[in-house]
Amino acid sequence: MTIVENIRAMREIIQDWKHQNDTVGFVPTMGFLHEGHLSLIRKARKQNDKVVVSIFVNPTQFGPNEDFENYPRNMVIDAQKCDKEGVDLIFAPCTKEMYPDPTYAFVDIDQLGNSLCGATRPGHFRGVCTVVSKLFNIVMPDRAYFGEKDAQQLVIIQKMVYDLNIPVQIVPCPIVREKDGLAMSSRNSTLSTQERIAARVLSQSLEHSKYLMMQGETNASVIRSQMKEKIQLEPLATVEYIEIVDAQTLTPIENVQGDVLIALAVYIGNTRLIDNYRRHLEAT
Ligand code: PAJ
Repeated sequence: MTIVENIRAMREIIQDWKHQNDTVGFVPTMGFLHEGHLSLIRKARKQNDKVVVSIFVNPTQFGPNEDFENYPRNMVIDAQKCDKEGVDLIFAPCTKEMYPDPTYAFVDIDQLGNSLCGATRPGHFRGVCTVVSKLFNIVMPDRAYFGEKDAQQLVIIQKMVYDLNIPVQIVPCPIVREKDGLAMSSRNSTLSTQERIAARVLSQSLEHSKYLMMQGETNASVIRSQMKEKIQLEPLATVEYIEIVDAQTLTPIENVQGDVLIALAVYIGNTRLIDNYRRHLEAT
């Protein structure tokens, strides 16, 4: 496995692979890899001749008061995990390599980026779209793998690729969870023991929403308020949002029907966690 830090070297390797007609699968990450990331890597490994993982904590997707500095990092362990999964190449640029000069060109997304996480994180999805576009231009993958854990990000990347005719196939991958239901996240490592227990309320409230829908409840306001009540019973939890939206357009719906996404963001102490349930994938 090779670790490459600069773009010029990347281009040479990718050119060689393209000349050999090798297909390239790409898994963009911010590192501190866990089983969620590894599930994407395993899928990429099965479907492509070459697998590239990028590890880059992208400053442009963090707001001024967010956790960019404190975002967990561990390149040595990440490299060991990638090696074990048969990754061919890790692209791990420094910030100066990706953003050498003040940047004037960005990739932004209308509508889809303003709701849910975008409502409290202005500019976040512009940062994500910009860095993912840059990475696509560097890696030139045939397929790129994104987790359903970040449901809004997945919808946005699919729309960006479609609207801008970027020649890559986006492959969605299911959410990987801990035994107690907590969605795996690099940020889980910053939870204290008490907070880690409290963090179960996210998936528990989603389970409750599934139960309500199974009982025939279709009123989104009723489902949301019951989820909120459940989370508020946990003193360490503060709800940022609980939304029930159309899974394609991300616009709020009142009557739960068809392809529905139930998404939430909750602070456990100072750590912001997200989770979601997309109904059409299992039900209807
Ligand atoms: P990061 O949070 O490191 O996630 C990288 C990829 O792993 C994303 O596609 C994410 O949805 C997926 N992932 C994370 N946890 C998962 C889980 N529990 N189950 C399944 N997939 C999971 O998302 C980013 O980085 C960045 O925004 C990035 C796209 C790399 C751009 O900087």
